[in-house]
Amino acid sequence: MPFDINKIREDFPILHRTVEGAPLVYLDNAATSQTPRCVVDNISRMYYEHKANVHRGVHTLSQEATDLMEEARRKVKCFINATSTEEIIFTRGTTEGINLVASSFGDSLCNGDEIIVTVMEHHSNIVPWQLLQRNRRIVLRVIPIDANGDLMLDAYEDLFTDNTRFVALTHVSNVLGTVNPVKEMIAIAHRHGVPVLIDGAQAVAHRPVDVTDLDADFYAFSAHKMYGPVGVGILYGKRRFLENLPPYQGGGEMIGQVSFEKTTFADLPYKFEAGTPDYVGIAAMTAAIDYINGIGLDNIAAHEQELLKAATSRLMEIPGMKIFGTSAGKEGVISFLVDGIHHYDMGMLLDKMGVAVRTGHHCAQPLMHTLGIEGTVRASFAAYNTMEEVERFTAAVARAAAMFHK
Ligand code: ALA
Repeated sequence: MPFDINKIREDFPILHRTVEGAPLVYLDNAATSQTPRCVVDNISRMYYEHKANVHRGVHTLSQEATDLMEEARRKVKCFINATSTEEIIFTRGTTEGINLVASSFGDSLCNGDEIIVTVMEHHSNIVPWQLLQRNRRIVLRVIPIDANGDLMLDAYEDLFTDNTRFVALTHVSNVLGTVNPVKEMIAIAHRHGVPVLIDGAQAVAHRPVDVTDLDADFYAFSAHKMYGPVGVGILYGKRRFLENLPPYQGGGEMIGQVSFEKTTFADLPYKFEAGTPDYVGIAAMTAAIDYINGIGLDNIAAHEQELLKAATSRLMEIPGMKIFGTSAGKEGVISFLVDGIHHYDMGMLLDKMGVAVRTGHHCAQPLMHTLGIEGTVRASFAAYNTMEEVERFTAAVARAAAMFHK
């Protein structure tokens, strides 16, 4: 299908609203993307026609809801090229997926064991590992970045010791836009016999992801950042790991047999899906995957790269502009500051001109400390953003900067 930006924008009613009297320019896609009509229609259809709890009933509605949820699992499996649906676990989001792995894998860790992360991790790929430190002396070892925001791979290699048990790293930085060479990094970890979790939250809506080709042991992401509903996440895990990990939460659905003396657990993937899942959101997510596939991830990536290039060169013309993250091949994320202007003030002024960006530390305080700043203004692109919006955004930044500097 040719990339037809006007047609794409028609699918997102929210993009046609105004903010502060100006047409909305939505550039907070790294936080959450907007949702096309087909996904919202799917949610309505689930509530109007198929709402019944999954797996527990013999009645028709329950069977329909179950089938729709399992169809979603098959769709996710194909989307990331997993080997089997048993390796696809539904969660509430990337954060829960990482917490699941940290908690279940962490069960086997001992005093002195080491986990490698990067300095650019979101808090959700730092804090779950730190929580393990409550009852064990687990050491976090951190891969540094260079001036462009690229990971220093030599330093990564040097971090491995006999005590390294796990590597947890982001595919794409939510602040810098850096696309990490995860395939190479996974291969390095595997040479040391260490499994790897990839935080794919910022990747899956912007580039094709093939977990088999990457040889990732775990890969976590969220539906709401890929044009899907809020509250649904996916954790991919290699079967041999998932089979051996203890359950994360206990409850309905995840059991084999329960007695007060002994409880056994369900087979994969249900062992990790305690309680009623958000089967409405999960089923609706299939429409988001179809939507992305319909446009084509390569087309989306090429379009976002054009926006990134244009926005970067326009912003660089503004006096006092500093962009954080200049990695070659970075994703459509621009974090910046203008000399003398607090990120929050810039964000407020942009909002007054209808431009939605994120400001602050972006849940990456260790990265902010490394950069020697408290926060940035961040613009992040999606398939539906236009060159005209890039113009409006960069003109708004220039106008705000001029207001402060006059
Ligand atoms: N992780 C999301 C962001 O970077 C919320 O904005």
